Amino acid sequence: MKNLTIDAERLWDDLMQTARIGATPNGGVRRLTLTEVDREVRDWFRAAAEGLGCTVSVDDMGTMFARRPGQRGDIPPIAMGSHLDTQPSGGKFDGALGVLAALEALRTLHEAGYETFAPIEAINWTNEEGSRFAPAMIASGVFAGVFTREWAYGRTDPAGETFGAALQRIGYRGEEECGSRKLSAFFELHIEQGPHLEAEGKQIGVVTGVQAMRWYEATVRGEEAHAGTTPMPRRRDALLAAARLVEAVNRTACAHAPDAVGTVGRLETRPGSPNVVPGEVFFTIDMRHPHAAVLDRMESEIHAAADQIARDLAVSVTIAAIWSQPAVRFDEGCIASVREGARVSGFSTRDMISRAGHDAAYVARVAPAAMIFVPCKDGVSHNEAEFASKEQCAAGAQVLLQAVLDYDRKLAERYGR
Ligand code: GLV
Ligand code: MN
Ligand code: MN
Repeated sequence: MKNLTIDAERLWDDLMQTARIGATPNGGVRRLTLTEVDREVRDWFRAAAEGLGCTVSVDDMGTMFARRPGQRGDIPPIAMGSHLDTQPSGGKFDGALGVLAALEALRTLHEAGYETFAPIEAINWTNEEGSRFAPAMIASGVFAGVFTREWAYGRTDPAGETFGAALQRIGYRGEEECGSRKLSAFFELHIEQGPHLEAEGKQIGVVTGVQAMRWYEATVRGEEAHAGTTPMPRRRDALLAAARLVEAVNRTACAHAPDAVGTVGRLETRPGSPNVVPGEVFFTIDMRHPHAAVLDRMESEIHAAADQIARDLAVSVTIAAIWSQPAVRFDEGCIASVREGARVSGFSTRDMISRAGHDAAYVARVAPAAMIFVPCKDGVSHNEAEFASKEQCAAGAQVLLQAVLDYDRKLAERYGR
């Protein structure tokens, strides 16, 4: 197994080539889920996988599965993958690395003529980012039975288009029922998106779990009023109240440092005119912590702050919890395979939990799963400047391949080959 080596140049070429699909002038990528550029990168992935002789299936959430057969067609595949959608001003590596490294692993097996015991698959999950259709990881969520397909189809983007309509429009609503496919295991390679590996000079993160996260949608209602004629004491300014709530989210997260984070990432003001006191403001809240009990406390603090602000400014505030993802502990067998993959490849490692959400967190509910992290420059992600070097990407892909082969060997032993 030691002599199977992925091709670093080829993986890098794939990363740079796909980054042209939806490229932004500042060197980033804007490839929102279920848009024309998403269709284009999906077509690219399908053609590349079929070029290796893989069979590509698409489920009714648009998730793509590229399968290379193994000795035993009756055993569920060992899968690898991540997502090809990006944030509105995303980078070249978040998601793409995990899918393209999976493709490179398949290519390495193909060129070596290596026959695995189980089939091996590369997966491209639909809408991991959740920036167009909330929440994030919606397709892996349906796959794991957390959301129904009909609920997912009805989610709308800020322009009012539904997920179902967008999926149909780009031609990626497949026949296979989402969730009907069984997996023997799932491995996801990703950039860390944080600073720890780089700071400690470690090459590989052995990811043992994912922290808990919650999303909320808040609406503040005040009263529209003339900006020139309405005296300050008479105003019911929804944006002023929202601003105080943004501050409260930050304060709550800081109060539970160092592990808590809280973010207001989208805010819409109505009617949005320079000379109208805002009558209504909509905004999102993203809060995360490794422990649910702390998130419960943070949530109560936000509600208390909202009540106080509503009284002080004579507005109403509603905060709806729209998504809650509990903390996840990955499968010990998969974690052991990642560790072994790093060991045989000669890389230094550090155990860590993921602070970002990933499809592997939902897949872990229905199949053994684990993740591999590689460092990224200055820990920057969800940013056009996101960067991981050719060598860092290659190291991750090599560990991914070796982890899959290690798991495949264990499966063969279990089935008594
Ligand atoms: C996924 O990108 C997340 O928000 O963690
Ligand atoms: Mn990602
Ligand atoms: Mn992301």
